[in-house]
Amino acid sequence: MKVDHAGEHGAICIYRAQRWFARWRAPEMVAELDHFLEHERRHRARFGAELARRNRRRCRSYFWCGAGGFALGAVTGLAGRQAIAATTVAIESVVLRHMQQQVEALDAIDQEAVAALREIIAEEQEHHDLSMARVPKKGFWPALMSPVVSTSTEAVIWLGMRL
Ligand SMILES: [Fe+2]
Ligand SMILES: [Fe+2]
Repeated sequence: MKVDHAGEHGAICIYRAQRWFARWRAPEMVAELDHFLEHERRHRARFGAELARRNRRRCRSYFWCGAGGFALGAVTGLAGRQAIAATTVAIESVVLRHMQQQVEALDAIDQEAVAALREIIAEEQEHHDLSMARVPKKGFWPALMSPVVSTSTEAVIWLGMRL
């Protein structure tokens, strides 16, 4: 849950940076990025509330997720629409898999956490699908982003779980 919370913070930072550059590089995507950003703010608050209810502090990786997210968002935002969409597809694929596993693991243990996860999964799926529609099957950005981003997202989750 801590890692989810930090991850949502990372997502907010990615979209904020991308949005900033998208105004210039991909103006037609700004509204969509705002829509995603609104979701991610809600996700972070939702996980934050779950942590507070359990008297848990934020993850030690929280700050780094934000900084890493911002850097990734800035580079891909600057690179333009395909890079932005390819990043979202790559991240959401990992995130969806991770959250799905959490739902399975928590199903019998923590119904409130599962309810939060289910709502969030539906929105991450929407981000994934809308972005998927924007990237060509083959091309430079999807080919670069999917291994790079999946590996780093997996690494962040792995590290966050152990910190
Ligand atoms: Fe999210
Ligand atoms: Fe998302």
